[in-house]
Amino acid sequence: MARLTINQLSRRFGSFLAVDRFSLDVEPGEFVSLLGPSGCGKSTILRMIAGLLEPDSGSIAIGDKEVTWLPPEKRNIGLVFQSYALFPHMSVFENVAFGLRQRGVDEASLKTRVHEALDLVHLTGLDRRFPREMSGGQQQRVALARAVAPQPALLLLDEPLSNLDAKLRDSMRFELRRLQQTLSITTIFVTHDQEEALTMSDRICVLSGGQLHQVGRPREIYDMPATPFVAEFFGRSNGFDGKVAALGDKAAVSLSDDVRLVTSHLPDGAQIGDPVHVTIRQESVRILEAENEPARSSLPAVLDIVSFAGSTAQFLVRLSGGPQLNAEMNIERGGSLPEAGSHVRVMIDPGDVIVMAAR
Ligand SMILES: Nc1ncnc2c1ncn2[C@@H]1O[C@H](COP(=O)(O)OP(=O)(O)OP(=O)(O)O)[C@@H](O)[C@H]1O
Ligand SMILES: [Mg+2]
Repeated sequence: MARLTINQLSRRFGSFLAVDRFSLDVEPGEFVSLLGPSGCGKSTILRMIAGLLEPDSGSIAIGDKEVTWLPPEKRNIGLVFQSYALFPHMSVFENVAFGLRQRGVDEASLKTRVHEALDLVHLTGLDRRFPREMSGGQQQRVALARAVAPQPALLLLDEPLSNLDAKLRDSMRFELRRLQQTLSITTIFVTHDQEEALTMSDRICVLSGGQLHQVGRPREIYDMPATPFVAEFFGRSNGFDGKVAALGDKAAVSLSDDVRLVTSHLPDGAQIGDPVHVTIRQESVRILEAENEPARSSLPAVLDIVSFAGSTAQFLVRLSGGPQLNAEMNIERGGSLPEAGSHVRVMIDPGDVIVMAAR
């Protein structure tokens, strides 16, 4: 278990800046995800931490030791990739023993440690099989056992679950997290799957275009996104350009001349008229039948599209004199759905109107 300290790490490919001054401190035993869309630089960062790729500038330390220029085998890390990358001609036992042999562990303790690692990933007794005789999920567990058997200071995982089918992926999430906690091993986990990051991580780094947008606990990132990109990356969201319309207790933003939304939070130092970015998650939009008592702070609207999606319904709703919003609502079994074209009222809790300074 070691601390990982990354300071101002940058990397170009030709003139393209793939990673731009990335800094991060990871506590001993912490599980941190690097999350972002394809091409945002996640694997490039992980490869630099692993020593598979040299940075152009910046530094990396594992524990008290600077490792920026050390080869991978001198960094005391365990690596797992999406493709498992097992040695096909070696048995499961030999695959898991590989890193231990490299480190010169004697035969007697080697055997114990391979079996311990296989027990940890629930593959007890399968040590004589070959990779081709195992399912994808089992192969990925062998890869995990191989990575943790030498008791590395740092575990680096690049989309290790994305080759597995949906059901297996869900159960492996919990297994991987349990294993990480059992071993208290400092872990960096690369994923483009927000749910994976939210359910597994102590903290998440959200990246876009090689830049770190926010780092924080899953709940923090979800509830208090730091940038419009982060707000809209999570969940299904609506994003709008707006202006600050009122301050203080009655804080509000306007999306058009006719549409004003009360919000419980404005950016620090906001002034009337300031341009802002407004994010509203689809599940925050409540749609009320128009004949109901018009609730205070509800907005008149028309339903443009209504679609049934099992336990939920999706709506595209046009605010009178304003923009369209996507909304998602749970529907009760057998409950009725309003029809497209009907007049409704839209309500959004002030706490769900996420406002950020426009960039
Ligand atoms: N060896 C390379 N040569 C040139 N460009 C590269 C190289 N490796 C990565 N890149 C570019 O750097 C950017 C970041 O790549 P990276 O592999 O880190 O993305 P990623 O976030 O891991 O994406 P994904 O989710 O698709 O795996 C991409 O635009 C990619 O095309
Ligand atoms: Mg990648």
